[in-house]
Amino acid sequence: EVENPLRPRTLGEYIGQEKVKENLSVFIEAAKQRKESLDHVLLYGPPGLGKTTLAGIVANELGVNLRITSGPAIEKPGDLAAILTNLNPGDVLFIDEVHRLSRSVEEILYPAMEDFALDIITGKGQMAASYHLPLPKFTLVGATTRAGQLSAPLRDRFGVVLRLELYTAQELARIVTRSARILEIPIEADGALEIASRSRGTPRIANRLLKRVRDFAQVITGGTITRESARIGLDRLEIDSIGLDANDRRMLRALIQFYKGGPVGLETLAAAIGEEAVTIEDIYEPYLMQIGFLNRTPRGRCATAAAYEHLGLEFSGSGDSGQ
Ligand code: ADE
Repeated sequence: EVENPLRPRTLGEYIGQEKVKENLSVFIEAAKQRKESLDHVLLYGPPGLGKTTLAGIVANELGVNLRITSGPAIEKPGDLAAILTNLNPGDVLFIDEVHRLSRSVEEILYPAMEDFALDIITGKGQMAASYHLPLPKFTLVGATTRAGQLSAPLRDRFGVVLRLELYTAQELARIVTRSARILEIPIEADGALEIASRSRGTPRIANRLLKRVRDFAQVITGGTITRESARIGLDRLEIDSIGLDANDRRMLRALIQFYKGGPVGLETLAAAIGEEAVTIEDIYEPYLMQIGFLNRTPRGRCATAAAYEHLGLEFSGSGDSGQ
């Protein structure tokens, strides 16, 4: 089901997330030795770090099928029942955005995860009947950008909880080099590192920038991705030296120029730049906090001195920088 040729198929091919890989490989091996299904796995962390890829690898390493769906796609309990009853023993069911399952769907999921059974009630009054249907054993791999939004009963039913972290530039350079080889894009080591260091710790961004930089290299700068041709392409894409794009800079500038660097509430900031609060939380903030440009304080978001400096603005230091 996962057709992207850049996705690694085995843990051995997967670059980075070393702690996650080490532990996962033990849990997979142990389940295989015992001929049991793997315990349910929760993957959480910022988007684009490889949660879907890891679910595919888990299925591949276990030698079972992968079924992919998402929280918002499962609208009714019957939708989930249809998926669960069609699994083969040991299969991996990947539910992306698992924090967005509805209450009624979650309630079907609990006994399915815990007892591998469907508990269904049909009819009303005298016609009411309850069914207890055994299901094949399966492994649920749930993914979320926000573990805090998962209901406690759901979170408690995952035996394995793994947190994905932003990648280093070195790891991303290895991923870019690997992707370039697969896509037959000529690239020099410096070119890969230039793309990597502007990719915000995120493989999905690195692979997207690789493809766009290839376009500039092909049409304008002579084919091979060198450091110089990567710079020319990335500059044209308005990706700056540390990977901030026009939107990141727009948000930081709004925070600094409209709200004196904060603290300002998330919703206020979101309204000021015409984005949804969750977009800011999930897409903009993880990287800005990681590089020390933004702090979340109890009273709101604050830009740091480093953010001012990067944007070439004078740091007044008057606001509460949250430090
Ligand atoms: N492509 C995207 N993410 C990757 C990763 N973590 N390792 C190897 N290739 C990738």
